[in-house]
Amino acid sequence: MRFLTSFLTLLLLSVSALALNFNVVRQDAEVATTDAELASASLKPKVCNPNYRGSDLGQKQYEALADYADLFIKKQDVLTAFNRYIPGAYKQHNPYAEQGRDFAIQYLINGFTPRGSVQTTNLTFFAGQGYGMTHFKMKMPNITFAVIDYFKFQGTCIVEHWDVLQQITGTEPNPIAFF
Ligand SMILES: *[C@@H]1O[C@H](CO)[C@@H](O)[C@H](O)[C@H]1NC(C)=O
Ligand SMILES: *[C@@H]1O[C@H](CO)[C@@H](O)[C@H](O)[C@H]1NC(C)=O
Repeated sequence: MRFLTSFLTLLLLSVSALALNFNVVRQDAEVATTDAELASASLKPKVCNPNYRGSDLGQKQYEALADYADLFIKKQDVLTAFNRYIPGAYKQHNPYAEQGRDFAIQYLINGFTPRGSVQTTNLTFFAGQGYGMTHFKMKMPNITFAVIDYFKFQGTCIVEHWDVLQQITGTEPNPIAFF
């Protein structure tokens, strides 16, 4: 546990060091200049609505979580996932994080860099009663976790986050440990 804590602290320190680069990343992402980007912008990507109150709100939240999980966990496209589903306030309960989406975006982008260095598999998710949960395996170069993220919705947007990480060593006595 002490190793894990210092590992995470190290990650956070390197995130802080990269905070300046983050502004550049965001600016680049917000300016659609190439034909491909303009074409995909015209496809009108789904974007969350914090004021959505339809009778199918639960289904819409489920669909939002499914798309968020596809973007974040399968495609590892942190910025699109956040811009689409976490566009505003983001109340953060991770003990090592700062409040707000900007810190989370930079932390997560940094965590997935270089591209392909983290394998995210075994995703399951569900949503209900205004909350959503994702469970997946995150294999980094030198440590592997079973991760549960859970979120609170406002309309179809995510506004609050909790998480739990369990380290996977591969020597667990339970043959069906974690998944
Ligand atoms: C977890 O994912 C791996 C790789 O995709 C797969 O081989 C394995 O069967 C999955 N485990 C479970 C319990 O679904
Ligand atoms: C794990 O990887 C990080 C970054 O790649 C490195 O700083 C750290 O020293 C490594 N830890 C171990 C125990 O190998």
